[in-house]
Amino acid sequence: MSSIGEHGADFLVVANRLPVDLERLEDGTQRWKHSPGGLVSALEPFLRAHSGAWVGWPGIADAEVDAFEEDGLQLHPVGLSAAEVADYYEGFSNGTLWPLYHDVVAPPAFHRHWWNAYVRVNQRFADVTAKVAAQGATVWVQDYQLQLVPAMLRELRPDLRIGFFLHIPFPPVELFMQLPWRTEIIRGLLGADLVGFHRPGGAQNFLWLARRLVGLEPSRGAVGVRTRPGVVQVGDRTVRVGAFPISIDSSSLDALARSKEVQARAKQIREDLGNPKKILLGVDRLDYTKGIDVRLRALNELLVDGRVNPEDVAMVQLATPSRERVEHYKQMRGDIEQIVGRINGEFSTVGHPVVHYLHQSVDRKELAAFMTAADVMVVTPVRDGMNLVCKEYVATRYDLGGALVLSEFAGAAAELTSAFLVNPHDLDGVKNALEAALTVDPAEGRRRMRALRRQVLTHDVDRWARSFLDALGTQTAF
Ligand code: ADP
Ligand code: F6P
Repeated sequence: MSSIGEHGADFLVVANRLPVDLERLEDGTQRWKHSPGGLVSALEPFLRAHSGAWVGWPGIADAEVDAFEEDGLQLHPVGLSAAEVADYYEGFSNGTLWPLYHDVVAPPAFHRHWWNAYVRVNQRFADVTAKVAAQGATVWVQDYQLQLVPAMLRELRPDLRIGFFLHIPFPPVELFMQLPWRTEIIRGLLGADLVGFHRPGGAQNFLWLARRLVGLEPSRGAVGVRTRPGVVQVGDRTVRVGAFPISIDSSSLDALARSKEVQARAKQIREDLGNPKKILLGVDRLDYTKGIDVRLRALNELLVDGRVNPEDVAMVQLATPSRERVEHYKQMRGDIEQIVGRINGEFSTVGHPVVHYLHQSVDRKELAAFMTAADVMVVTPVRDGMNLVCKEYVATRYDLGGALVLSEFAGAAAELTSAFLVNPHDLDGVKNALEAALTVDPAEGRRRMRALRRQVLTHDVDRWARSFLDALGTQTAF
Protein backbone atom coordinates (compact mmCIF):
# COMPACT_ATOMS: atom_id res chain seq x y z
CA MET A 1 0.00 0.00 0.00
CA SER A 2 1.45 3.39 -0.88
CA SER A 3 1.63 6.05 1.79
CA ILE A 4 1.73 9.82 1.94
CA GLY A 5 4.16 10.94 4.58
CA GLU A 6 5.99 14.15 5.28
CA HIS A 7 8.62 13.00 2.82
CA GLY A 8 6.04 13.27 -0.02
CA ALA A 9 3.82 10.82 -1.89
CA ASP A 10 5.10 7.42 -3.02
CA PHE A 11 2.50 7.05 -5.75
CA LEU A 12 1.03 9.93 -7.77
CA VAL A 13 -1.37 10.29 -10.65
CA VAL A 14 -0.89 13.44 -12.72
CA ALA A 15 -3.88 14.33 -14.92
CA ASN A 16 -5.28 17.50 -16.46
CA ARG A 17 -8.28 17.36 -14.12
CA LEU A 18 -8.54 16.45 -10.47
CA PRO A 19 -11.19 13.76 -9.83
CA VAL A 20 -13.37 16.56 -8.44
CA ASP A 21 -14.30 19.77 -10.21
CA LEU A 22 -14.81 23.10 -8.52
CA GLU A 23 -18.10 24.79 -9.38
CA ARG A 24 -18.90 28.46 -8.71
CA LEU A 25 -22.57 28.88 -7.87
CA GLU A 26 -24.63 31.96 -8.66
CA ASP A 27 -24.76 33.01 -5.00
CA GLY A 28 -20.95 33.26 -5.02
CA THR A 29 -20.31 30.04 -3.09
CA GLN A 30 -18.28 27.14 -4.43
CA ARG A 31 -18.72 23.37 -4.28
CA TRP A 32 -16.87 20.29 -5.53
CA LYS A 33 -18.57 17.90 -7.92
CA HIS A 34 -17.46 14.74 -9.71
CA SER A 35 -15.30 15.46 -12.78
CA PRO A 36 -16.54 14.37 -16.22
CA GLY A 37 -14.95 11.79 -18.51
CA GLY A 38 -13.66 8.25 -18.70
CA LEU A 39 -10.23 8.94 -17.20
CA VAL A 40 -11.69 9.90 -13.84
CA SER A 41 -14.35 7.12 -13.98
CA ALA A 42 -11.57 4.56 -14.45
CA LEU A 43 -8.77 5.84 -12.22
CA GLU A 44 -10.67 7.24 -9.25
CA PRO A 45 -11.84 3.89 -7.79
CA PHE A 46 -8.32 2.45 -8.16
CA LEU A 47 -6.64 5.45 -6.52
CA ARG A 48 -9.13 5.63 -3.67
CA ALA A 49 -8.56 1.96 -2.93
CA HIS A 50 -4.79 2.46 -2.79
CA SER A 51 -4.48 5.89 -1.14
CA GLY A 52 -2.30 7.81 -3.55
CA ALA A 53 -1.92 11.45 -4.50
CA TRP A 54 -3.44 13.20 -7.51
CA VAL A 55 -2.05 16.32 -9.20
CA GLY A 56 -4.54 18.16 -11.43
CA TRP A 57 -6.46 21.30 -12.40
CA PRO A 58 -9.55 22.08 -10.27
CA GLY A 59 -11.63 22.72 -13.41
CA ILE A 60 -12.19 26.50 -13.35
CA ALA A 61 -9.94 29.45 -14.17
CA ASP A 62 -8.13 31.43 -11.49
CA ALA A 63 -9.08 29.10 -8.62
CA GLU A 64 -6.74 29.42 -5.69
CA VAL A 65 -6.94 26.14 -3.85
CA ASP A 66 -4.36 24.64 -1.48
CA ALA A 67 -3.58 20.94 -1.40
CA PHE A 68 -6.22 19.02 0.54
CA GLU A 69 -7.22 15.49 1.43
CA GLU A 70 -10.50 14.01 0.29
CA ASP A 71 -11.63 10.57 1.35
CA GLY A 72 -8.09 9.23 1.73
CA LEU A 73 -6.84 10.83 -1.48
CA GLN A 74 -4.28 13.66 -1.39
CA LEU A 75 -5.26 16.28 -4.00
CA HIS A 76 -2.69 18.80 -5.31
CA PRO A 77 -4.36 21.51 -7.42
CA VAL A 78 -2.54 23.14 -10.34
CA GLY A 79 -4.02 26.58 -11.09
CA LEU A 80 -4.71 27.87 -14.60
CA SER A 81 -5.44 31.47 -15.57
CA ALA A 82 -8.36 32.27 -17.88
CA ALA A 83 -5.89 32.80 -20.75
CA GLU A 84 -4.30 29.40 -20.06
CA VAL A 85 -7.70 27.70 -20.04
CA ALA A 86 -8.35 29.29 -23.45
CA ASP A 87 -4.93 28.51 -24.97
CA TYR A 88 -3.71 25.32 -23.27
CA TYR A 89 -7.01 23.51 -22.52
CA GLU A 90 -9.57 24.70 -25.08
CA GLY A 91 -6.86 25.61 -27.60
CA PHE A 92 -3.93 23.22 -27.96
CA SER A 93 -5.46 20.26 -26.06
CA ASN A 94 -8.96 20.37 -27.50
CA GLY A 95 -8.64 22.47 -30.67
CA THR A 96 -5.38 20.91 -31.93
CA LEU A 97 -4.59 17.52 -30.34
CA TRP A 98 -8.12 16.17 -29.77
CA PRO A 99 -9.25 16.44 -33.42
CA LEU A 100 -5.80 15.47 -34.77
CA TYR A 101 -5.67 12.30 -32.65
CA HIS A 102 -9.28 11.42 -33.51
CA ASP A 103 -8.53 10.93 -37.21
CA VAL A 104 -9.12 14.60 -38.07
CA VAL A 105 -12.90 14.10 -37.92
CA ALA A 106 -12.90 17.88 -37.36
CA PRO A 107 -10.06 20.05 -38.72
CA PRO A 108 -7.35 20.74 -36.10
CA ALA A 109 -6.07 24.31 -35.74
CA PHE A 110 -2.35 25.03 -35.30
CA HIS A 111 -1.50 28.20 -33.37
CA ARG A 112 1.90 29.04 -31.92
CA HIS A 113 0.46 30.87 -28.91
CA TRP A 114 -1.59 27.74 -28.06
CA TRP A 115 1.58 25.65 -28.23
CA ASN A 116 3.48 28.12 -26.03
CA ALA A 117 0.74 27.89 -23.38
CA TYR A 118 0.83 24.07 -23.59
CA VAL A 119 4.59 24.09 -22.90
CA ARG A 120 4.18 26.54 -20.01
CA VAL A 121 1.33 24.62 -18.34
CA ASN A 122 3.05 21.23 -18.79
CA GLN A 123 6.09 22.73 -17.04
CA ARG A 124 3.87 23.87 -14.15
CA PHE A 125 2.43 20.35 -13.76
CA ALA A 126 5.98 18.95 -13.75
CA ASP A 127 7.12 21.53 -11.16
CA VAL A 128 4.22 20.79 -8.77
CA THR A 129 4.74 17.03 -9.15
CA ALA A 130 8.48 17.33 -8.55
CA LYS A 131 7.74 19.10 -5.26
CA VAL A 132 5.25 16.60 -3.86
CA ALA A 133 6.77 13.27 -4.98
CA ALA A 134 8.82 11.30 -2.45
CA GLN A 135 12.33 10.07 -3.31
CA GLY A 136 12.04 7.19 -5.80
CA ALA A 137 8.24 7.59 -6.09
CA THR A 138 6.15 6.22 -8.96
CA VAL A 139 4.46 8.93 -11.02
CA TRP A 140 1.77 8.02 -13.52
CA VAL A 141 1.14 10.83 -16.03
CA GLN A 142 -2.17 10.70 -17.91
CA ASP A 143 -3.40 11.69 -21.35
CA TYR A 144 -2.87 14.03 -24.25
CA GLN A 145 -2.97 17.27 -22.28
CA LEU A 146 0.31 16.40 -20.51
CA GLN A 147 2.57 14.77 -23.11
CA LEU A 148 5.58 16.97 -22.27
CA VAL A 149 5.43 16.25 -18.55
CA PRO A 150 7.42 12.96 -18.58
CA ALA A 151 10.60 14.57 -20.01
CA MET A 152 10.20 17.76 -17.95
CA LEU A 153 9.76 15.75 -14.78
CA ARG A 154 12.73 13.50 -15.51
CA GLU A 155 14.88 16.60 -15.92
CA LEU A 156 13.81 17.82 -12.47
CA ARG A 157 13.68 14.45 -10.71
CA PRO A 158 15.75 11.67 -12.32
CA ASP A 159 15.09 9.47 -9.27
CA LEU A 160 11.39 9.00 -10.15
CA ARG A 161 9.84 6.06 -11.96
CA ILE A 162 7.59 7.63 -14.60
CA GLY A 163 4.76 6.02 -16.55
CA PHE A 164 2.58 7.68 -19.20
CA PHE A 165 -0.79 6.46 -20.45
CA LEU A 166 -2.72 7.92 -23.41
CA HIS A 167 -6.51 7.65 -23.00
CA ILE A 168 -7.36 8.62 -26.56
CA PRO A 169 -6.28 7.06 -29.88
CA PHE A 170 -2.70 7.66 -30.99
CA PRO A 171 -3.10 8.68 -34.63
CA PRO A 172 -1.73 7.18 -37.82
CA VAL A 173 1.77 8.44 -38.62
CA GLU A 174 0.62 10.52 -41.64
CA LEU A 175 -1.76 12.51 -39.43
CA PHE A 176 0.66 12.96 -36.53
CA MET A 177 3.25 14.31 -38.97
CA GLN A 178 0.99 17.34 -39.60
CA LEU A 179 1.81 18.63 -36.13
CA PRO A 180 4.42 21.42 -36.25
CA TRP A 181 5.64 20.36 -32.79
CA ARG A 182 5.71 16.60 -33.52
CA THR A 183 9.32 16.04 -32.44
CA GLU A 184 8.84 17.89 -29.16
CA ILE A 185 5.82 15.73 -28.30
CA ILE A 186 7.67 12.47 -29.02
CA ARG A 187 10.66 13.67 -26.97
CA GLY A 188 8.30 14.60 -24.14
CA LEU A 189 6.77 11.11 -24.06
CA LEU A 190 10.19 9.45 -24.21
CA GLY A 191 10.92 10.95 -20.80
CA ALA A 192 8.77 8.13 -19.36
CA ASP A 193 10.01 4.63 -18.46
CA LEU A 194 6.81 3.15 -19.92
CA VAL A 195 4.47 4.66 -22.52
CA GLY A 196 1.07 2.94 -22.71
CA PHE A 197 -1.71 3.04 -25.31
CA HIS A 198 -5.11 1.35 -25.55
CA ARG A 199 -4.34 -0.54 -28.75
CA PRO A 200 -1.24 -2.18 -30.23
CA GLY A 201 -1.63 0.02 -33.35
CA GLY A 202 -1.03 3.16 -31.25
CA ALA A 203 2.13 1.63 -29.77
CA GLN A 204 3.39 0.73 -33.25
CA ASN A 205 2.75 4.26 -34.55
CA PHE A 206 4.65 5.70 -31.61
CA LEU A 207 7.62 3.36 -32.11
CA TRP A 208 7.83 4.31 -35.79
CA LEU A 209 7.70 8.03 -34.95
CA ALA A 210 10.35 7.69 -32.24
CA ARG A 211 12.73 6.16 -34.78
CA ARG A 212 11.86 8.60 -37.55
CA LEU A 213 11.72 11.84 -35.56
CA VAL A 214 14.19 11.29 -32.75
CA GLY A 215 16.50 8.90 -34.58
CA LEU A 216 16.26 6.06 -32.12
CA GLU A 217 16.26 2.37 -32.93
CA PRO A 218 13.24 0.50 -31.59
CA SER A 219 14.11 -3.08 -30.71
CA ARG A 220 11.71 -5.83 -29.74
CA GLY A 221 11.51 -7.00 -26.14
CA ALA A 222 8.99 -8.01 -23.50
CA VAL A 223 6.99 -5.29 -21.74
CA GLY A 224 4.74 -7.50 -19.68
CA VAL A 225 1.93 -9.93 -19.94
CA ARG A 226 -0.63 -9.13 -22.67
CA THR A 227 1.23 -6.22 -24.19
CA ARG A 228 2.64 -6.03 -27.67
CA PRO A 229 6.37 -6.00 -27.03
CA GLY A 230 8.25 -2.82 -27.80
CA VAL A 231 11.31 -1.08 -26.43
CA VAL A 232 13.14 2.13 -27.32
CA GLN A 233 16.66 2.72 -26.13
CA VAL A 234 17.25 6.42 -25.21
CA GLY A 235 20.95 6.71 -24.40
CA ASP A 236 21.41 4.43 -21.42
CA ARG A 237 17.69 4.50 -20.63
CA THR A 238 15.19 1.93 -21.78
CA VAL A 239 11.69 3.16 -22.62
CA ARG A 240 9.09 0.44 -22.85
CA VAL A 241 6.06 0.84 -25.08
CA GLY A 242 2.93 -1.27 -24.94
CA ALA A 243 -0.85 -1.63 -25.24
CA PHE A 244 -2.99 -1.73 -22.09
CA PRO A 245 -6.76 -1.62 -22.81
CA ILE A 246 -8.41 0.29 -19.98
CA SER A 247 -11.59 -0.89 -18.26
CA ILE A 248 -14.05 -0.12 -15.48
CA ASP A 249 -14.76 -1.11 -11.88
CA SER A 250 -16.99 -3.91 -13.21
CA SER A 251 -17.89 -5.73 -10.00
CA SER A 252 -19.00 -2.61 -8.14
CA LEU A 253 -21.25 -1.58 -11.05
CA ASP A 254 -22.62 -5.13 -11.25
CA ALA A 255 -23.41 -4.96 -7.51
CA LEU A 256 -24.98 -1.50 -7.85
CA ALA A 257 -27.22 -2.72 -10.69
CA ARG A 258 -28.41 -5.65 -8.54
CA SER A 259 -29.45 -3.34 -5.67
CA LYS A 260 -33.17 -2.96 -4.91
CA GLU A 261 -32.89 0.80 -5.23
CA VAL A 262 -31.53 0.68 -8.79
CA GLN A 263 -34.01 -2.01 -9.82
CA ALA A 264 -36.92 0.08 -8.50
CA ARG A 265 -35.62 3.21 -10.19
CA ALA A 266 -35.22 1.35 -13.51
CA LYS A 267 -38.86 0.24 -13.30
CA GLN A 268 -39.88 3.81 -12.56
CA ILE A 269 -37.93 5.08 -15.58
CA ARG A 270 -39.73 2.61 -17.85
CA GLU A 271 -43.07 3.77 -16.46
CA ASP A 272 -42.15 7.43 -16.83
CA LEU A 273 -41.34 6.73 -20.47
CA GLY A 274 -44.83 5.22 -20.94
CA ASN A 275 -43.73 1.56 -20.78
CA PRO A 276 -42.72 1.43 -24.46
CA LYS A 277 -41.91 -1.98 -25.96
CA LYS A 278 -38.28 -0.96 -26.42
CA ILE A 279 -36.02 1.68 -24.88
CA LEU A 280 -32.87 2.83 -26.66
CA LEU A 281 -30.17 4.62 -24.67
CA GLY A 282 -27.16 6.80 -25.48
CA VAL A 283 -24.81 8.14 -22.77
CA ASP A 284 -21.93 10.39 -23.76
CA ARG A 285 -20.05 13.59 -23.20
CA LEU A 286 -21.52 15.92 -25.83
CA ASP A 287 -18.58 15.45 -28.19
CA TYR A 288 -18.47 15.37 -32.00
CA THR A 289 -16.41 12.16 -31.92
CA LYS A 290 -19.21 10.23 -30.18
CA GLY A 291 -21.50 9.92 -33.23
CA ILE A 292 -24.65 11.02 -31.38
CA ASP A 293 -25.89 12.46 -34.67
CA VAL A 294 -25.27 9.10 -36.40
CA ARG A 295 -27.62 7.16 -34.10
CA LEU A 296 -30.29 9.88 -34.28
CA ARG A 297 -30.17 9.93 -38.09
CA ALA A 298 -30.40 6.13 -38.18
CA LEU A 299 -33.42 6.16 -35.86
CA ASN A 300 -35.04 8.92 -37.90
CA GLU A 301 -34.69 6.91 -41.12
CA LEU A 302 -36.02 3.73 -39.49
CA LEU A 303 -39.09 5.70 -38.42
CA VAL A 304 -39.48 7.28 -41.87
CA ASP A 305 -39.10 3.86 -43.54
CA GLY A 306 -41.77 2.41 -41.23
CA ARG A 307 -39.31 -0.21 -39.95
CA VAL A 308 -39.77 1.08 -36.40
CA ASN A 309 -43.15 2.10 -35.01
CA PRO A 310 -42.86 5.37 -33.03
CA GLU A 311 -45.42 4.09 -30.53
CA ASP A 312 -43.20 1.15 -29.67
CA VAL A 313 -39.96 2.97 -28.86
CA ALA A 314 -38.45 5.68 -26.71
CA MET A 315 -34.89 6.82 -27.08
CA VAL A 316 -33.08 8.49 -24.16
CA GLN A 317 -29.92 10.44 -24.87
CA LEU A 318 -27.98 11.62 -21.82
CA ALA A 319 -25.35 14.12 -22.88
CA THR A 320 -22.89 15.63 -20.39
CA PRO A 321 -22.04 19.23 -21.30
CA SER A 322 -18.43 19.33 -22.51
CA ARG A 323 -15.92 21.94 -23.75
CA GLU A 324 -18.76 24.31 -24.49
CA ARG A 325 -16.65 27.25 -25.61
CA VAL A 326 -14.82 25.29 -28.32
CA GLU A 327 -16.30 26.09 -31.75
CA HIS A 328 -16.79 22.51 -33.08
CA TYR A 329 -18.67 21.64 -29.88
CA LYS A 330 -21.03 24.61 -30.23
CA GLN A 331 -21.84 23.65 -33.82
CA MET A 332 -22.41 20.01 -32.98
CA ARG A 333 -24.76 20.80 -30.11
CA GLY A 334 -26.90 22.87 -32.46
CA ASP A 335 -26.96 20.05 -35.06
CA ILE A 336 -27.98 17.41 -32.52
CA GLU A 337 -30.71 19.53 -30.99
CA GLN A 338 -32.06 20.16 -34.48
CA ILE A 339 -32.27 16.43 -35.28
CA VAL A 340 -33.95 15.71 -31.93
CA GLY A 341 -36.47 18.47 -32.71
CA ARG A 342 -37.09 17.08 -36.19
CA ILE A 343 -37.71 13.51 -34.96
CA ASN A 344 -40.00 14.65 -32.16
CA GLY A 345 -41.85 17.12 -34.42
CA GLU A 346 -42.53 14.37 -36.93
CA PHE A 347 -43.16 11.28 -34.82
CA SER A 348 -44.13 12.20 -31.25
CA THR A 349 -47.64 12.36 -29.84
CA VAL A 350 -48.77 14.45 -26.87
CA GLY A 351 -47.19 12.99 -23.75
CA HIS A 352 -45.01 10.59 -25.74
CA PRO A 353 -41.89 12.16 -27.25
CA VAL A 354 -39.83 9.62 -29.18
CA VAL A 355 -36.49 11.14 -28.15
CA HIS A 356 -35.78 12.29 -24.59
CA TYR A 357 -32.69 14.45 -24.74
CA LEU A 358 -31.13 15.44 -21.42
CA HIS A 359 -28.21 17.86 -21.67
CA GLN A 360 -26.98 16.92 -18.21
CA SER A 361 -24.93 14.57 -16.14
CA VAL A 362 -26.55 12.01 -13.83
CA ASP A 363 -25.05 10.26 -10.79
CA ARG A 364 -23.83 6.65 -10.78
CA LYS A 365 -27.01 5.13 -9.37
CA GLU A 366 -29.19 6.95 -11.87
CA LEU A 367 -26.84 5.91 -14.67
CA ALA A 368 -27.05 2.26 -13.57
CA ALA A 369 -30.85 2.56 -13.49
CA PHE A 370 -31.02 3.98 -17.04
CA MET A 371 -28.75 1.18 -18.26
CA THR A 372 -30.85 -1.44 -16.48
CA ALA A 373 -34.00 -0.01 -18.09
CA ALA A 374 -32.56 0.12 -21.61
CA ASP A 375 -33.19 -2.66 -24.12
CA VAL A 376 -30.61 -1.35 -26.56
CA MET A 377 -27.49 0.65 -25.69
CA VAL A 378 -26.27 2.61 -28.68
CA VAL A 379 -22.56 3.52 -28.78
CA THR A 380 -21.60 4.88 -32.20
CA PRO A 381 -18.42 6.98 -31.99
CA VAL A 382 -16.66 7.80 -35.25
CA ARG A 383 -13.46 7.44 -33.21
CA ASP A 384 -12.89 6.62 -29.54
CA GLY A 385 -9.75 5.51 -27.70
CA MET A 386 -11.66 2.89 -25.69
CA ASN A 387 -15.20 3.98 -24.66
CA LEU A 388 -16.17 2.97 -21.16
CA VAL A 389 -19.93 3.48 -21.53
CA CYS A 390 -20.32 0.22 -23.46
CA LYS A 391 -18.42 -1.69 -20.76
CA GLU A 392 -20.56 -0.05 -18.08
CA TYR A 393 -23.73 -1.18 -19.84
CA VAL A 394 -22.48 -4.77 -19.98
CA ALA A 395 -21.53 -4.67 -16.28
CA THR A 396 -25.08 -3.64 -15.31
CA ARG A 397 -26.76 -6.47 -17.29
CA TYR A 398 -26.41 -9.31 -14.77
CA ASP A 399 -29.83 -10.46 -16.02
CA LEU A 400 -28.26 -11.12 -19.46
CA GLY A 401 -30.89 -8.79 -20.92
CA GLY A 402 -30.30 -5.90 -23.28
CA ALA A 403 -28.31 -5.56 -26.48
CA LEU A 404 -25.26 -3.48 -27.31
CA VAL A 405 -24.78 -1.69 -30.64
CA LEU A 406 -21.11 -0.69 -30.83
CA SER A 407 -18.96 1.16 -33.31
CA GLU A 408 -15.99 -0.66 -34.83
CA PHE A 409 -14.06 2.57 -34.30
CA ALA A 410 -14.20 2.38 -30.50
CA GLY A 411 -11.17 0.71 -28.93
CA ALA A 412 -13.60 -1.49 -26.97
CA ALA A 413 -14.77 -3.20 -30.19
CA ALA A 414 -11.61 -5.34 -30.18
CA GLU A 415 -12.75 -6.90 -26.88
CA LEU A 416 -16.55 -6.74 -27.18
CA THR A 417 -16.87 -8.79 -30.34
CA SER A 418 -20.30 -10.19 -29.38
CA ALA A 419 -21.89 -6.74 -29.66
CA PHE A 420 -23.80 -5.68 -32.77
CA LEU A 421 -20.75 -4.07 -34.38
CA VAL A 422 -21.30 -1.21 -36.83
CA ASN A 423 -19.37 1.11 -39.09
CA PRO A 424 -20.75 4.53 -38.05
CA HIS A 425 -20.01 5.93 -41.52
CA ASP A 426 -22.40 3.40 -43.07
CA LEU A 427 -25.87 4.66 -42.18
CA ASP A 428 -27.64 1.65 -43.73
CA GLY A 429 -25.40 -0.62 -41.64
CA VAL A 430 -26.26 1.31 -38.46
CA LYS A 431 -29.98 1.07 -39.28
CA ASN A 432 -29.71 -2.69 -39.82
CA ALA A 433 -27.81 -3.15 -36.56
CA LEU A 434 -30.34 -1.08 -34.60
CA GLU A 435 -33.20 -3.10 -36.06
CA ALA A 436 -31.38 -6.38 -35.34
CA ALA A 437 -30.74 -5.32 -31.73
CA LEU A 438 -34.37 -4.22 -31.26
CA THR A 439 -35.70 -7.54 -32.54
CA VAL A 440 -33.02 -9.98 -31.35
CA ASP A 441 -34.27 -13.39 -30.30
CA PRO A 442 -34.03 -13.53 -26.46
CA ALA A 443 -31.84 -16.66 -26.45
CA GLU A 444 -29.44 -15.10 -28.95
CA GLY A 445 -29.44 -11.87 -26.91
CA ARG A 446 -28.51 -13.77 -23.75
CA ARG A 447 -25.76 -15.66 -25.56
CA ARG A 448 -24.23 -12.39 -26.72
CA MET A 449 -24.55 -10.70 -23.33
CA ARG A 450 -23.01 -13.69 -21.54
CA ALA A 451 -19.95 -13.49 -23.77
CA LEU A 452 -19.68 -9.71 -23.28
CA ARG A 453 -19.93 -10.04 -19.51
CA ARG A 454 -17.27 -12.73 -19.41
CA GLN A 455 -14.87 -10.23 -20.96
CA VAL A 456 -15.87 -7.15 -18.93
CA LEU A 457 -16.02 -8.84 -15.53
CA THR A 458 -12.67 -10.58 -15.90
CA HIS A 459 -10.87 -7.55 -17.37
CA ASP A 460 -11.57 -4.76 -14.91
CA VAL A 461 -9.78 -1.51 -14.14
CA ASP A 462 -7.82 -3.08 -11.32
CA ARG A 463 -6.33 -5.62 -13.70
CA TRP A 464 -5.54 -2.82 -16.18
CA ALA A 465 -3.78 -0.68 -13.56
CA ARG A 466 -1.83 -3.62 -12.16
CA SER A 467 -0.68 -4.74 -15.59
CA PHE A 468 0.55 -1.21 -16.37
CA LEU A 469 2.26 -0.76 -13.00
CA ASP A 470 3.83 -4.24 -13.19
CA ALA A 471 5.25 -3.40 -16.61
CA LEU A 472 6.51 -0.10 -15.17
CA GLY A 473 8.27 -2.17 -12.53
CA THR A 474 7.06 -0.02 -9.69
CA GLN A 475 8.45 -0.94 -6.29
CA THR A 476 5.16 0.03 -4.60
CA ALA A 477 3.02 -2.98 -3.71
CA PHE A 478 -0.62 -2.68 -4.82
P1 ADP B 1 -14.81 10.00 -22.52
O1 ADP B 1 -13.67 9.70 -21.63
O2 ADP B 1 -14.41 10.42 -23.88
O3 ADP B 1 -15.80 10.96 -21.93
P2 ADP B 1 -15.83 7.27 -21.97
O4 ADP B 1 -16.98 6.53 -22.56
O5 ADP B 1 -14.57 6.50 -21.94
O6 ADP B 1 -15.66 8.63 -22.77
O7 ADP B 1 -16.17 7.69 -20.48
C1 ADP B 1 -17.25 8.53 -20.18
C2 ADP B 1 -17.59 8.39 -18.71
O8 ADP B 1 -18.47 9.46 -18.35
C3 ADP B 1 -18.31 7.10 -18.38
O9 ADP B 1 -17.95 6.66 -17.10
C4 ADP B 1 -19.79 7.51 -18.43
O10 ADP B 1 -20.64 6.74 -17.63
C5 ADP B 1 -19.72 8.93 -17.93
N1 ADP B 1 -20.81 9.74 -18.53
C6 ADP B 1 -20.93 10.15 -19.81
N2 ADP B 1 -22.06 10.86 -19.98
C7 ADP B 1 -22.67 10.89 -18.79
C8 ADP B 1 -23.89 11.49 -18.32
N3 ADP B 1 -24.70 12.20 -19.11
N4 ADP B 1 -24.18 11.34 -17.01
C9 ADP B 1 -23.36 10.63 -16.20
N5 ADP B 1 -22.22 10.04 -16.58
C10 ADP B 1 -21.87 10.18 -17.87
O1 F6P C 1 -9.79 10.54 -22.15
C1 F6P C 1 -10.76 11.41 -22.47
C2 F6P C 1 -10.79 12.71 -21.73
O2 F6P C 1 -10.38 13.69 -22.56
C3 F6P C 1 -9.99 12.88 -20.46
O3 F6P C 1 -8.66 13.21 -20.60
C4 F6P C 1 -10.76 13.98 -19.86
O4 F6P C 1 -10.53 14.16 -18.51
C5 F6P C 1 -12.19 13.60 -20.16
O5 F6P C 1 -12.13 13.00 -21.40
C6 F6P C 1 -13.20 14.71 -20.11
O6 F6P C 1 -12.84 15.80 -20.89
P1 F6P C 1 -12.59 17.22 -20.25
O7 F6P C 1 -11.61 17.03 -19.13
O8 F6P C 1 -12.05 18.04 -21.36
O9 F6P C 1 -13.91 17.69 -19.75
